[in-house]
Amino acid sequence: MIEVRNLWHIYEGRKIALRDVSLTIENEILALVGPNGSGKTTLAKHLNGLLKPTKGEVIVDGINTKNASVAELSRIVGYVFQNPEHMFFEENVFREVAFGPKNLGLSKDEIEQRVRWALKSVNLGGYEDRNPYSLSGGEKQRLAIACVLSMRPRYLILDEPTTGLDEKSAKSVKEVIRKLKEEGHGIMLITHDMELVLELADRVVLLFEGVKIFDGSVNEFFRLDLRNYDLDRPELLRISERLNIGFVRNVDEFVTQILERVRP
Ligand SMILES: Nc1ncnc2c1ncn2[C@@H]1O[C@H](COP(=O)(O)OP(=O)(O)O)[C@@H](O)[C@H]1O
Ligand SMILES: [Mg+2]
Repeated sequence: MIEVRNLWHIYEGRKIALRDVSLTIENEILALVGPNGSGKTTLAKHLNGLLKPTKGEVIVDGINTKNASVAELSRIVGYVFQNPEHMFFEENVFREVAFGPKNLGLSKDEIEQRVRWALKSVNLGGYEDRNPYSLSGGEKQRLAIACVLSMRPRYLILDEPTTGLDEKSAKSVKEVIRKLKEEGHGIMLITHDMELVLELADRVVLLFEGVKIFDGSVNEFFRLDLRNYDLDRPELLRISERLNIGFVRNVDEFVTQILERVRP
């Protein structure tokens, strides 16, 4: 479990980015949402020790981030940055994914095993010899996830993993996120995409000006007036409300509800 307890973060220049935020993450998909500048990235950087609390504490599987290095923590919490495609620097996919495990000083066999496993997990088996820059948007995002997975972290932070992707690519990334959760990872999904929240999240945390405004179920979250936070309501929910259908998570559920009504 990751526990964030009464966390404050004040940047130099006195910008207060987080105000007394507490939350926990277990084996679940936690969507972290909020308008630009609300403190999402700041919070995420605390989970793997890139930032240290101004006040309060962050405990990752029993380890206080104050007393641990980023290298140590990144074996527990993997951070896939926004626009990770700018960060590839190896000539092929295999070497890109092998980079982290190599730095851990693992044996050649272990490295190879981890790379194959990580690539398979993100549905990129067979891509080993490809140049990272030749991949599509969705493939690049999945490669970035594989690079982090090869460290075998228990938790993953995904910062805007589907932003800028076309629908097909986004779908491939969604499938991977779902699968990783089923395999026992805890996932913090930072996103502006409310459709993604509706479809994938188990829980939602809403930040606004550094304050945690909401922490609860997806159903409850979508009862908030999201316009106050620069967030859109998913089209599917608008339609289902107009038709007086209850809360639905995806098109399949929507159709099931409709069919139940028209059947005698
Ligand atoms: N390195 C920094 N120095 C000073 N202020 C920062 C720094 N990084 C972010 N901030 C400020 O902290 C607030 C929260 O930023 P951030 O965590 O990036 O929000 P989000 O990811 O939700 O857009 C913003 O007001 C931002 O300008
Ligand atoms: Mg951010």
